[in-house]
Amino acid sequence: MLKNDLLIRAAKGLEVERAPVWLMRQAGRILPEYKATRARAKNFIDFVKTPELACEVSIQPVDILGVDAAIIFSDILVIPEAMGLPYQMIEAKGPWFENTIKSKADVDKLKIADAGDLDYVIKALQLTKKELNNRVPLIGFAGAPWTLFAYMIEGSGSKTFSKAKQFLYTQPETAHLLLEKITQSTINYLKGQVAAGADILQLFDSWAGVLSPDMYYEFSLNYISKICDALSPLVPVTVFAKDAHYATEKISQTSCSSIGLDWTINPQSARSQAGNKTLQGNADPCLLYASEEKIIRETNQMLKAFGKNKYICNLGHGLYPDLDKEKVKFFVDLVKNYKWNS
Ligand code: CP3
Repeated sequence: MLKNDLLIRAAKGLEVERAPVWLMRQAGRILPEYKATRARAKNFIDFVKTPELACEVSIQPVDILGVDAAIIFSDILVIPEAMGLPYQMIEAKGPWFENTIKSKADVDKLKIADAGDLDYVIKALQLTKKELNNRVPLIGFAGAPWTLFAYMIEGSGSKTFSKAKQFLYTQPETAHLLLEKITQSTINYLKGQVAAGADILQLFDSWAGVLSPDMYYEFSLNYISKICDALSPLVPVTVFAKDAHYATEKISQTSCSSIGLDWTINPQSARSQAGNKTLQGNADPCLLYASEEKIIRETNQMLKAFGKNKYICNLGHGLYPDLDKEKVKFFVDLVKNYKWNS
């Protein structure tokens, strides 16, 4: 039994005493403790593949920042790798794939991954679940198929993802084949995460915003919906589609439990489109560069607008590495101490 199950209750739309708070990229470079642990690994991928180290940095934000959940330390790119497309994480640049997908023959060569291909993440989850000792829930995650597809075609990050979009326009059938393979791999992987102790799951669709609404529904949301249908009978699932608030209503029609929001939509507008789903978000991470007075004002306004129930407090995207750890903690404390009835 979880001692603090606020996140799970909020995700399920049940009554809470206060809104839970956790932060995307909380296991990361804002913490000197993270940097110290990372220095013990050869490189990022080695770090991700060492369950003891992954466990350590997953728990650090719970101890240091006081957040209401741990998210397993890993990366969304472990799925392309498990399917046969290895990546590197280049310092100060980001992910890089030596081989990319160009044709149907390339797609045919990829395997559908199962949880056994990602046993290092499964072990990290088991260890983290044990070490957390039920203090707070453990969040599992995966990239949404479209976002993984975008990296697999492009081979790295991109402002426009025009190569990946070109693929959708010129080889739509092959695109669907690849998206289906990623979807099946992700379902296998997430079922393994739940069996290993994940209490809730989040799908990150970081590049949702480069697609038009119709392209998004066809090439992204269809697959997200399949993943939600496979996993939501087991645990709550949150869908975070960055820069795609045009899709909030359609996302609310999937079987997800909650919808993650970036800062480009206001709470009232999101509520009016989200049906009875729980909402998660959505402060601009840059707010945490501001003065304490400004942080107090904006955070109070956000909490009031979302309301206590069916709400999970978070930022609208991940923490930036140069944010001050004390300001981040200040934000977390503010949310935890907010007087909901006043
Ligand atoms: O704390 C957490 O949120 C859990 C861990 C986590 C990481 N990546 C660790 C990480 C999670 C949930 C992710 C998801 C992820 N990875 C996404 C989706 C979320 C988003 O930000 O939109 C994406 C697009 C990736 C791909 C990725 N991984 C990029 C583009 C980069 C480089 C950019 C950067 O911040 O340096 C990474 C590397 C990465 N993944 C880091 C961390 C902590 C930084 C690496 C380091 O320590 O050097």
